[in-house]
Amino acid sequence: MEPQFWRDRWAENKIGFHEGKPNTFLAEHEGRLGGTRVLVPLCGKSEDLAFLAAHGRSVIGIELVEDAVAAFFGEHAATPTIERRGPLALYTAGAIQILAGDFFAVTPADVGPVDAIYDRAALIALPPELRPRYIAHLRSLVPAPAPVLLVTIEYPQDLMPGPPFSVPESEVRTYYPTATLLGDAPIQSGRAAELGVARERSYLVR
Ligand SMILES: C[S@@+](CC[C@H](N)C(=O)[O-])C[C@H]1O[C@@H](n2cnc3c(N)ncnc32)[C@H](O)[C@@H]1O
Repeated sequence: MEPQFWRDRWAENKIGFHEGKPNTFLAEHEGRLGGTRVLVPLCGKSEDLAFLAAHGRSVIGIELVEDAVAAFFGEHAATPTIERRGPLALYTAGAIQILAGDFFAVTPADVGPVDAIYDRAALIALPPELRPRYIAHLRSLVPAPAPVLLVTIEYPQDLMPGPPFSVPESEVRTYYPTATLLGDAPIQSGRAAELGVARERSYLVR
C-alpha cells in the first residue's frame, strides 16, 4: 500500500483494525514472549503498547502516521518528548517510545537494543510482494534468536481485497520455520470480521 493509503485511513478515522483494548492473544500469551525491550512494528495507536509496558517491558513502536502516534500519547494522558531525526520523530514517555515514520527507513541505530518482537496486524497489513521485504527488514532491526509473538488473519483471499490480507500458516512458516501455533479464534473486529469466516491466529517464534 502507498503511504497515502494509510494517511487517508487515519485522517478519515477508518481504523477498524484498532481494537481499543489489548489483543486477546497478547493478554493470554505475553508471559511466553520473554524479552525486556519489545519492538512493535506498524503499531498504530494500539493498546498493546500500554499493555506490554504495564507488564514490565520497555516498548518501541514504529508507525508511519504521526497523528496516530500523537493520538496514542494523548489518549494515555502522557506528554512525550519529541526528538526529530531526519525523516523520523522519536516520541518518548516513560517506558514507551514510538518512532513516527516509514518502517523501511528505520535503522538498527534508530531502534536501539531490542530482544523481542510483537507483530499484530503488521505482516497482514502488507501485500504479498512486500511481506518478504518486511520480514527481512524486521530481522535486520532485531536479529534472530529474538522471539516473536505474531498475530495473523486467515480467510479465503478471494472474498475481499486486503488489507487486512490473509496470511496462511504455510506462508508464516516460510518466514518463521520454528513457529508454534498458540491460538486460533474467530476474528472479532475490523473488515475481516464482517466476512463471518475469518480466523485470528497467533504464533510464538523462538
Ligand atoms: C492494520 S494497522 C495495525 C496497527 C496496530 N498494529 C494495531 O494492532 O492496531 C497497520 C498500521 O501500519 C501503519 N503502517 C503502514 N505502512 C507503514 C510503514 N511503511 N511504516 C510504518 N507504519 C506503517 C499504518 O499507518 C497502520 O497504523
